[in-house]
Amino acid sequence: MKRMINVALPKGRLGEKVYNMFEAAGYDCPAIREVNRKLIFTNEEVGVSFFWVKPSDVAIYVERGAADIGVAGKDILLEYRPDVYELLDLDMGKCRMAVAGRSDFRDDPTRTLRVATKFSRIAKTYYGELCRDIDIIHLNGSIELAPILGLSDVIVDIVETGSTLKENDLVVLETILPISARLIANKASFKFKNDDIRAITAALGAQVEARKSNG
Ligand code: PRP
Repeated sequence: MKRMINVALPKGRLGEKVYNMFEAAGYDCPAIREVNRKLIFTNEEVGVSFFWVKPSDVAIYVERGAADIGVAGKDILLEYRPDVYELLDLDMGKCRMAVAGRSDFRDDPTRTLRVATKFSRIAKTYYGELCRDIDIIHLNGSIELAPILGLSDVIVDIVETGSTLKENDLVVLETILPISARLIANKASFKFKNDDIRAITAALGAQVEARKSNG
């Protein structure tokens, strides 16, 4: 019997695009397209088993070996620093980590800057490098509300299209870094299933290059 590779995919629009890339690379699993509430899909012939997890949980499944490989955003990898290998930039799910605030915001360097974010570690690292004194206000969602209601001076958050900021009269003040989806692997799986994981990485890498050259 063929050895199976367990793949954790992020639930949602990005995950569907990522699955399409696996399919085009020859790692298909037609059952995944059936509309139901199933969470695990296996194609024994090809040797892959996919499962959908919350995007921010992919790295945990991979780090602990419940999945051999998975796809996680660079934001999650930087924030949680899971002990995994990062194998490939999939060049999708592209957005940026940015500082945003009200357009009339002016920083007063004599005061501690109040920063609301889901990404406390990224924010601390960024402001630490600038030697800027900050007070982190950790929130779990709807971060844009914080500067509007005066809970914080600025936010550190993901900006994709920019429409959430625009619709709430906020602007990007500084870009921290670009973000995209990455293929990651469990360290033990990479050792013991090396040939299979390398073959998947190479096939996906070819897809990434093909997409880039097709614009
Ligand atoms: C993310 C992020 C912004 C929004 C940015 O939120 O926190 O709110 O997407 O996207 P845009 O630039 O295309 O408008 P998400 O949808 O993950 O929800 P959240 O409020 O739970 O963080």
